[in-house]
Amino acid sequence: MLGYIPKDAVPLIASELNLSRAEVHGVISFYHYFRNALPGKHVVHVCRAEACQALGAGELEAHAKETLGIDFHQTTADQAISLEPVYCLGNCSLGPSIMIDKHLQGRVSPERFDRLMAKVRAKP
Ligand code: FES
Repeated sequence: MLGYIPKDAVPLIASELNLSRAEVHGVISFYHYFRNALPGKHVVHVCRAEACQALGAGELEAHAKETLGIDFHQTTADQAISLEPVYCLGNCSLGPSIMIDKHLQGRVSPERFDRLMAKVRAKP
């Protein structure tokens, strides 16, 4: 498993599914869980939905982008972390919420975010 769809694979996918390249590209670019570039070693999703917004997700999002030096759908230069938006993780009352790989974290302040990212970077 590559973890992403290389651009060179689009013609093959289109041919095998009897679709146009534009149709395949449309699906890949529409759904956020399809990637066309290698993701970072770890993927951090930041909740942008209303309940988390009411609990400080906007500040957390800005902090995450600034400290990681990337925007959503991008990966840090060291390939350690990809940052993605998500619209509710089912952890609304404990927002702001993030998900690191498959692990949910609630009540994430900017300071806690920094500690979590340090742990993530330290993982093998
Ligand atoms: S609104 Fe963020 S977890 Fe539901």
